[in-house]
Amino acid sequence: MKHLIAPSLLSADFLDLRKEVEMINKSDADWLHLDIMDGVFVPNISFGFPVLNALKTICQKPMDVHLMIVEPLKFVREIAAAGAYMMNVHYETCTHLHRTVTAIKNEGMKAGVTLNPHTPISLLEDIIRDVDMVLLMSVNPGFSGQSFIEHSVDKVIRLREMIDRTGADALIEVDGGVNLETGRRLVEAGADVLVAGNFVFKSPDPVRTIRELKAL
Ligand code: DX5
Ligand code: ZN
Repeated sequence: MKHLIAPSLLSADFLDLRKEVEMINKSDADWLHLDIMDGVFVPNISFGFPVLNALKTICQKPMDVHLMIVEPLKFVREIAAAGAYMMNVHYETCTHLHRTVTAIKNEGMKAGVTLNPHTPISLLEDIIRDVDMVLLMSVNPGFSGQSFIEHSVDKVIRLREMIDRTGADALIEVDGGVNLETGRRLVEAGADVLVAGNFVFKSPDPVRTIRELKAL
C-alpha cells in the first residue's frame, strides 16, 4: 500500500482556518490530522468540539482525531458526532483500553491507539489484532515543531514485525518531526501514515510539500 499523508492542523493559520482546510481539500493529503489537548495529559491546550464541528462542514478528507486527553472514553460519542473517521486514544490514558477500543468501533469509527515515545511496543501484544491503527509519537506530545526522536524508526520496524507475526492488519502512523528526510526513513521502516504539521503548514508551498511527502 502506498503510504498516506495526514497534515496536522495544529500548525495552520488559526485566523484563516477555512483557507487552510480548502488548501488541504485540493491537495494530495489523504487525511486531516486534528490534535485535541486538555492541558492535563499534555502541557498545552489546543481546540475542541466547536472547532471540530465547524471543520466537519467543510473538510472533504477523513478526519484523523488525535486525543491527548485523560479519560477519552467519556467523549467517544461527541467525537463520532463531530465526524471523525479515526479516533486515536493514548495507551497511557486508558486503564481499560479494550473497552475504549470497542466503544470507538461501536460508534462507527476506526480505533487507533497511540504510544508516547517511551512506551514500549511490547505492551500492544494483546490488543494489536483489535485496533485499526497504532500511532507512534516521534516527539513528546503537546507541541508542533519539535525535533524527531531517532529511536522512533526502530519502533516502526519492531511494530511492523509484530503486526506481520500476529496477522494483524493495523496501520502504523507516525507523528512528530516528520519531514522529507525522516519521512523517507519511516516509510522504508514500514510506516503507513505520516503526520506532518510544521513541515507542511510553514512551508512556502504546502500543496507542493504534501505532494513531495506523498511521493516518498
Ligand atoms: C504533537 C501533535 C502533532 C504535531 C506535529 O503533540 O500530536 O500532530 O502537530 O507537528 P510537527 O509535524 O510540526 O512535529
Ligand atoms: Zn498528533
